[in-house]
Amino acid sequence: MNDIEHNHKQELNFPIGVFDSGVGGLTVVREIIRNLPEERMIYFGDTARVPYGSKSKETILRYSRQIIRFLQRKGVKAIVVACNTASAFALEEVKKEMDIPIIGVIKPGAEVAVKATKNGRIGVIGTEGTVKSHMYKKLIQNHNDKIQVIEKACPLFVPLVEEGLLKDSVTVEMAHRYLKDLKASHIDTLILGCTHYPLLRSTVREIMGEEITLVNPAYETAKGLEELLKSHNLRTTAENHGIEQSHEFYVSDAEEKFMEFARSILPSNIHTVNLINNIEEF
Ligand code: DGL
Repeated sequence: MNDIEHNHKQELNFPIGVFDSGVGGLTVVREIIRNLPEERMIYFGDTARVPYGSKSKETILRYSRQIIRFLQRKGVKAIVVACNTASAFALEEVKKEMDIPIIGVIKPGAEVAVKATKNGRIGVIGTEGTVKSHMYKKLIQNHNDKIQVIEKACPLFVPLVEEGLLKDSVTVEMAHRYLKDLKASHIDTLILGCTHYPLLRSTVREIMGEEITLVNPAYETAKGLEELLKSHNLRTTAENHGIEQSHEFYVSDAEEKFMEFARSILPSNIHTVNLINNIEEF
């Protein structure tokens, strides 16, 4: 084996960097673990600066660049932007600046919705930022400009999920209010366009009815990541090490709260969450 082959072989076993504004991206991590159990991840949750959903494009771009620099210093071989708002506001720009592959959650979600719709009417729910960016709509209509896209921001869903009120009557009431117009607009496909919303799937399902296809972009992103790694010849050659030893978790604040949330989402326990309190210096 020559030096180049040797270096490439090592690179295959480098981890994948995954980031989000906080805990929500763990719904993406969960799908990556299911789909690619032998890949290692380094996760960064920006818990000191969450939420991203109400912030400007410039701010999200700045935060995303800092986190990407942090992950690159950790030696990741690819990056997953596991946040819809950051995917909407920052992905296109940062992609141009990077020499490793990067994938967001919006394109995979948009593509599967295009395949799923029969009547050409797709709903999108997300944060204010994601909805204002119209990124889902743009990507859907790039495939087929006849498809109608009806978008709705649901800003209270994120704090309700983070408070653990997944099935609470307050959450159900808010879901009825947010989804009322979408239900009346005869969509047949609804994209859960925010990392937290897959956790409200059953509530959304009850309100929207069985006949609507619910798209979870986290699931599609994990499949998209597999394709991306394969196309760059970057799939690991390692065996499955198990989540405890293999993945690393970093946050910018409140490690305990993150750990508790992670325990309720991930298939097995994580033991350490590391605090990075100078992310703005990266
Ligand atoms: N992770 C964000 C998203 O998917 C939701 C939470 C936030 O607003 O930061 O858009």
